[in-house]
Amino acid sequence: MTDSGVIRRLHDNDIQSAWARFLELQTTFFGPGEVQWLQHHQALRGDVLEIGSALGHYGSYLAGQCAAHQVVGLEASADLIARQSSLPGNYRIEQCRVGAQPLPERHRGRFDTCVVRYVLQHDPAPLRLLQTLHDALPVGSRIFLVEEDDRLFVSNGRYAPWDAAVAIWKRACRFGGTNSQIGMDLPILVERAGFAVEDFSIDLRSNIDNPVMFFDFFKSVVELLWLSTPEFVSDEEFAFVSMGLEQAPPLGLCAVYPQIRLVARKR
Ligand SMILES: C[S@@+](CC[C@H](N)C(=O)[O-])C[C@H]1O[C@@H](n2cnc3c(N)ncnc32)[C@H](O)[C@@H]1O
Repeated sequence: MTDSGVIRRLHDNDIQSAWARFLELQTTFFGPGEVQWLQHHQALRGDVLEIGSALGHYGSYLAGQCAAHQVVGLEASADLIARQSSLPGNYRIEQCRVGAQPLPERHRGRFDTCVVRYVLQHDPAPLRLLQTLHDALPVGSRIFLVEEDDRLFVSNGRYAPWDAAVAIWKRACRFGGTNSQIGMDLPILVERAGFAVEDFSIDLRSNIDNPVMFFDFFKSVVELLWLSTPEFVSDEEFAFVSMGLEQAPPLGLCAVYPQIRLVARKR
């Protein structure tokens, strides 16, 4: 199977470094709110299965929040697994492209909580991935999905670097093969895979929450898109966004990013 969009060229050192910067910022910016969400749903009271671990930034953070339990990651890319640095003692990552491959036998029927964060948009067959999970998780277990949908990005048109970043995101994802509009379709997808939706919410983040981190995060996204899909992002566009986002944005609300979250149960 060939990967598309930003999941290409993972053997390239520059791209792996850009991934590392992006994943670290994404975990720092969104991780605390997501842990609150998981705790609210009492999801961290046992071992956790994580699908799509990449370099382990998020899984390491999660493992730190539930130190009494094991976090097991399944990651499709052997290149990313090879690059992982030290992980917490209660976290390990194994190679498995869930969907194209079944869940390893030893993990079947074992986890009550499964976290799938920013993975479905990168997989060419997200329904098959979810069906594989449905097949392998125990009855009563829950999946926790985190995604986005660029139809819900908002701008007031007063901050050109943000608008350019969003335009690059939409174009590079659409033509590069990443489904950046999967968020609103999550309920249909999980129902088709056999799960019952229990909660579906959108957490709106904006430049008002934490302007520096908000725009640093988007700068790292555009850098990753520029490096991994250069056919859709010119050097000039990258320079414009990258330098623009480093300068002070206009006062007030000018950029909104939706994080879409869904909880579903295997009946
Ligand atoms: C954007 S990263 C997200 C990493 C991590 N979940 C996080 O939130 O920081 C997506 C990862 O999912 C992996 N992936 C995509 N499809 C997968 C599948 N079917 N099984 C396992 N990993 C998959 C990719 O290789 C990539 O490392």
